[in-house]
Amino acid sequence: MSTEQQQSPKRVTTRTIQEMKDAGMPIACLTAYDFLTARLLDDAGIDLILVGDSVSNVFQGNPTTLPVTLDEMIYHTKAVSRVVRRAMVITDLPFMSYQVTTEEAFRSAGRVMKETLAHGVKVEGGVRIAGMVEKVAGEGIPVMGHIGLMPQSILKFGGYRPRGTNEEEADALVQDALALQEAGAFAIVLEKIPATLGKRITEQLSIPTIGIGAGQHCSGQILVTHDMLGLFEDFRPRFVRRYAALADEMDRAFRQYIHDVKASTFPNESESY
Ligand code: KIV
Repeated sequence: MSTEQQQSPKRVTTRTIQEMKDAGMPIACLTAYDFLTARLLDDAGIDLILVGDSVSNVFQGNPTTLPVTLDEMIYHTKAVSRVVRRAMVITDLPFMSYQVTTEEAFRSAGRVMKETLAHGVKVEGGVRIAGMVEKVAGEGIPVMGHIGLMPQSILKFGGYRPRGTNEEEADALVQDALALQEAGAFAIVLEKIPATLGKRITEQLSIPTIGIGAGQHCSGQILVTHDMLGLFEDFRPRFVRRYAALADEMDRAFRQYIHDVKASTFPNESESY
């Protein structure tokens, strides 16, 4: 065994994620779209990195996740998986890359797996897409589900209100989760649903649930990294805990730099040759 192999940390896999759920160990997940963030997350010990289609909002500046393309998701995933040594890397299949036909879903998932070294794909939907998930997962591609608030359907729902807040919607979400599990999904993201429903779904499933605004009883948690770092401030849902105020820090640095250039105090002698 080479020194490099000896030093490589043990990779987090679908099995590790399941073992963590079974052992009651919370699974920590965050998003990344570039190599630097991915490397910092991996070094810090994150379990799963999602190359989310939230790249459309927080990187490309679009109002929704709808515009980002499969080629763009592949571009960002390559940058991430190139440097990640321990965490599992999952890529969102973007809007209209898997909804029309199962064949197209296969091709999209297949491209992500072949071209990016990602370890799986994430798709939005429950009962409606279970047949597709069964076929893709059946071919050996790890599939993560995503139910509750589904950003790719935001225009249909007309907003970001929490989902599953009445009995009918809650029961439908339980059915969605069971259908995804039955179809072979290895985990399911639950977005913006009541904590009691997050608990109910988590208790009914044998596979892990990853919550974002779904309360503390999920098997793991995920946030958009730009949100938790205080970098993206256009939209601030209550489930985002801010761990830093990087937008303020960047603003301070940019203003100081501009000031120093204008005042001719940068560069000084020690910064010159
Ligand atoms: O695109 C994304 O970042 C996501 C997370 C919010 C779960 O889907």
